[in-house]
Amino acid sequence: MDDLRDLLAYAAARAAGYRQSVAEGSVFPDGVDLDAARAALGPLPSGPAPAAAVIRQLADIVEPVLVATTGPRYFGFVIGGALDAATAADVLTACWDQNAFNAVTSPAAALVEDVTGGWLKDVLGLPSAASFGFVTGGQGANTVCLAAARHHVLAEAGWDVERDGLRGAPAIRVAASAERHATIDRAMRLLGLGAGTIEPVATDARGAIDVADLERILASGPAGPAIVCLQAGNVNTGAFDDLATATAIAHQRAAWVHVDGAFGLWAAASAATRHLVAGIEGADSWAADGHKWLNVPYDSGYAFSAHPHAHAAAMSYAAAYLTGQGEGGPRAPGDYVLESSRRARGFATWAALRQLGRSGVAGLIERCCTLARRFAEQLGAADGVTVVNDVVLNQVLVSFGDDQETSRVIDAVQRSGECWMGATSWHGQRLMRISVSSWRTTEADVDRSVAAILAARSASTTS
Ligand SMILES: Cc1ncc(COP(=O)(O)O)c(C=O)c1O
Repeated sequence: MDDLRDLLAYAAARAAGYRQSVAEGSVFPDGVDLDAARAALGPLPSGPAPAAAVIRQLADIVEPVLVATTGPRYFGFVIGGALDAATAADVLTACWDQNAFNAVTSPAAALVEDVTGGWLKDVLGLPSAASFGFVTGGQGANTVCLAAARHHVLAEAGWDVERDGLRGAPAIRVAASAERHATIDRAMRLLGLGAGTIEPVATDARGAIDVADLERILASGPAGPAIVCLQAGNVNTGAFDDLATATAIAHQRAAWVHVDGAFGLWAAASAATRHLVAGIEGADSWAADGHKWLNVPYDSGYAFSAHPHAHAAAMSYAAAYLTGQGEGGPRAPGDYVLESSRRARGFATWAALRQLGRSGVAGLIERCCTLARRFAEQLGAADGVTVVNDVVLNQVLVSFGDDQETSRVIDAVQRSGECWMGATSWHGQRLMRISVSSWRTTEADVDRSVAAILAARSASTTS
């Protein structure tokens, strides 16, 4: 017993030490020698080792190679910083090791997901009757939601896709933003609909869909089962599709409306940004992430649907040895997700929402948006630096001149260790892509990062 306490205390101490000092070190591992780390990990051992030695060895080898995504100056991709309560809840989740399939395998996990799903719908402004599944992330959420959509539109056409598959099924038309996230395409592949069948809807200068083009596409093709994929938060610019108008157009045509709001759906949590998602409640399904802007540790996402029956019909399965499905008590979480045996993801999300409360979530969203604007103002004021997007959310796109120069600056910033921003190509231009998504980022972190970027630029122009 003492050994176990010592082991967990040691792991907690290492974890806390890492998190407390993460702001001080290089944001990307400095002079990282992956070959040395690989050698230290070694070949498969021939026999056992004491648990304490195993954990010490793992931490010693891995810590120097970690990326400081939990620190305050990581602005790559859309990566949140992992709140303290959510992180600690995830530690408990691992220790409790519940199988969150249903209320028989884990009443606690089923109950907490049940309560937390209600909280999520509330804070995101989704209908209270919507179904939900705690999935692995945006990819999982888009896939689950599109499976529910596939079920629903084919059932409306008199076809049982779960029983009969797609051979001989009525064709499903799928219209989606030309700037959709690539996980929509992968979901289409996995669901047998084919990424190549997507009818791309033109986008405007902000990266939001042209609703007139959506109307034209839907009017021009054959009637029948149809799905429209909208976006709340363009992955480059943060732009929002006009959800209310697009949903009205799609519903006139009886199409299912799916909204990919991996990070942008969180705009609903703040009065300052809620207008961006006006009309959100009218859609048929929604995808959102916990591990991005809610700052829940990986992996955590949510799939919601206004059609609980379609959601469960697409996802659930039965077997003689499985009990606890549809027998009263908390809902069975496994009926709404892709996995069978699964991690109890509800605990960490409950802890994040409990730590922040409604006002704390709003504050997190507002702070990140304010800091994104601070980036834009300071960088945009520098000679030869252009912010190319309208900063409506937490995303900032920056050009330093031509594509080569921009790539050089990004490379130098990434090597500086001061902060980390990624690169993207958008509307024919190579750009630095800044995403402010962490609860830990302060004004001082933005100022320090801007100084690092401008220093990298000066170095690049003088070399
Ligand atoms: C708009 C959008 N959709 C989906 C995803 C995929 O999310 P995940 O990486 O959590 O699967 C992302 C990730 O950046 C995203 O920005």
